[in-house]
Amino acid sequence: MASEFQSMGFVGAGRTANALAVAFAHAGYRVTSVASRSNVSALALARKVPGCRAADSPLDVAAECDLVFLTVPDDAIAPLAASLPWRNGQAAVHCSGALSSEALRSARERGAAAGCFHPLQTFASQEGGDARLAGSAFAVEGQGELLAWLEEAARRLGGFPVFIKGGDRPLYHASAVMACGYIATMLDAACGLWEHMGASREEGLKALLPLVKGTIANVEENGPRIAATGPILRGDAGTVRRHVEALAGRAPEALPLYCQAGLAMVTMAQARGSISGAQAEEMRRLLEPPDRKDHTLPLMRKGTRAGAL
Ligand SMILES: NC(=O)c1ccc[n+]([C@@H]2O[C@H](COP(=O)([O-])OP(=O)(O)OC[C@H]3O[C@@H](n4cnc5c(N)ncnc54)[C@H](OP(=O)(O)O)[C@@H]3O)[C@@H](O)[C@H]2O)c1
Repeated sequence: MASEFQSMGFVGAGRTANALAVAFAHAGYRVTSVASRSNVSALALARKVPGCRAADSPLDVAAECDLVFLTVPDDAIAPLAASLPWRNGQAAVHCSGALSSEALRSARERGAAAGCFHPLQTFASQEGGDARLAGSAFAVEGQGELLAWLEEAARRLGGFPVFIKGGDRPLYHASAVMACGYIATMLDAACGLWEHMGASREEGLKALLPLVKGTIANVEENGPRIAATGPILRGDAGTVRRHVEALAGRAPEALPLYCQAGLAMVTMAQARGSISGAQAEEMRRLLEPPDRKDHTLPLMRKGTRAGAL
């Protein structure tokens, strides 16, 4: 560890702080103080970390610690940084995926080093996040000793550093959201279809989860393009048409999501060489968005317009 960052503290005792502070302590780092908006959150985190105290205010953490993590919501990072008394030799670090270290410009202007340490992982609660960090990527940004410290920290937490240019961070974070929140959203919509069949979402999830796990295992083994299966990749337009008709008639709330993801899958299937150009065009006609095609047509004119859908 670089010698000037001997003690660390956290401002913001939410999900990410709970994961990181506990993991840092396990890895042998000195986490000495934590403050949050509410003292209850700060106390709860401090109790989990030996040698860590709940400070009354972020000012205390900034005064005491060599390296301060600002683990607050993204929009609160810059104003919080601007409210603290930074000094030479100190470091301010945020954990946002979308923001660059520019969000900490006010800390830099007062002599502190500024950096980013974004764990590419999901923490849905205050508990157990530390165990997920091993194997995770950490997007690190900073200069000189701070960058070296952050790289080493990523490795000591069992993960590995990745280096994202400031201007690329919104794209990087969009990829994270697609790989995490959007997958969960897609599954939520898939579970919702079970309600239209008279079953519960929970029954749907129980039935779908082995399929989800099988898919992730295949993605891990062969990458998403080879792992993908389904009627679009088989060029099975009749099945896709039946899906679109059923969704339009019985679960219209899920139709745009189904069609948008389907269009992306058509492009992927073509790139993979699974379907011909003509098959891809037929699929696109089935899946194009409602503003370009009225999805009620096939239902109203079933039999007469099926080929045109
Ligand atoms: N959750 C994730 O999966 C995840 C993953 C990677 C990175 N991140 C990043 O980590 C950062 C924190 O996200 P999070 O999900 O951990 O948020 P969170 O669970 O909502 O926690 C935020 C914490 O900050 C405290 N807080 C809010 N405004 C504050 C202020 N002005 N001063 C002091 N404390 C304040 C909150 O207060 P009280 O509890 O005290 O009321 C809460 O404890 C964000 O930059 C986010 O992008 C999140």
